[in-house]
Amino acid sequence: MELAQELLGGVFQNPVLLASGTCGFGRELAGVLELETLGGLVTKAVTPEPREGNPPLRVAEFDAGMLNSVGLANPGVDAFRSEHLPWLRDNLHRARVLVNVAGRTVEDYVRVVEAMDGDQGFLGYELNVSCPNVKEGGAVFCSRDDLLTDVIAAVRAVTRRPLVAKLAPNVPDIGHMAEVAVAAGADALTLINTHPGLMFDLESWRPVLGGGTGGVSGPALLPIGVHAVWQARRRVDVPIIGVGGIRRGTDAVQYLLAGACLVQVGTASFADPRASARVLSELTAYMRDHRVSGIRELIGAARSAAPPQGEPHG
Ligand SMILES: Cc1cc2nc3c(=O)[nH]c(=O)nc-3n(C[C@H](O)[C@H](O)[C@H](O)COP(=O)(O)O)c2cc1C
Repeated sequence: MELAQELLGGVFQNPVLLASGTCGFGRELAGVLELETLGGLVTKAVTPEPREGNPPLRVAEFDAGMLNSVGLANPGVDAFRSEHLPWLRDNLHRARVLVNVAGRTVEDYVRVVEAMDGDQGFLGYELNVSCPNVKEGGAVFCSRDDLLTDVIAAVRAVTRRPLVAKLAPNVPDIGHMAEVAVAAGADALTLINTHPGLMFDLESWRPVLGGGTGGVSGPALLPIGVHAVWQARRRVDVPIIGVGGIRRGTDAVQYLLAGACLVQVGTASFADPRASARVLSELTAYMRDHRVSGIRELIGAARSAAPPQGEPHG
């Protein structure tokens, strides 16, 4: 069964990766999971300076997933380069590494990428453009054409490594934002980041999360992410990485049918640190059962999707 794909200048031995923010910098999971059996992993966000993150509680569960407001806690690019990247370089040879980059300004993204671009141990960058731009009154980079273009073009100008733009689902037309990202220089897309959410404590009537609002992840995101991938696939011709709510092999199949060529497993790893390995084995079992001999046969193979333009969903 052919699971490998050559993408972004590297070989992904299979399509299952670990999602940013849910596997630390890899080492944290190495004791419980054989990382080298996966397609790869995406590090937690790296910013120019260390970030403490938001006050507790940082995560809360609900019936269909999780709400988090971690606040991109990370040690900053210098500590990442000295303490974490060497481990990735020395220990991961078959699993591909993407470094997730975040910032408050365009300059923040450029600083991180410039600082580490000459280092070994990773294939490329995943730009978390779901962050608010403090110089633009807190508008989220991927919510406006101009901001998205500025940040991707600025990073594109300082690196030749693959750039993957990770977009958020809460925009009116994700297909359009996909086009904007690719036009600005993104080589690939990750869809989707968490969806904004809010829940209150029923005794104090305050938000359950210390950060107030948070991002929804887990099963609730599955059809939203599959829809986003399918929308983007019709508009751009670059590799798409599908993420959101994947717990099982068949969830990964949903994303592949919609047009993703790789998938990421996030929240499911919190309940079961080996969830990604199980997703991979269930995916291969599905392929065997359906006489699919290569992963490429599934990618974008969905037979139909939307109702005619203008038809309501309800
Ligand atoms: C606790 C937590 C931390 C996250 N941190 C990041 C991050 O640092 N950068 C990023 O781009 N996405 C981050 N994400 C989003 C995930 O990578 C993923 O896009 C999202 O959770 C949907 O996938 P899932 O339903 O499989 O978790 C985080 C998600 C969670 C739950």
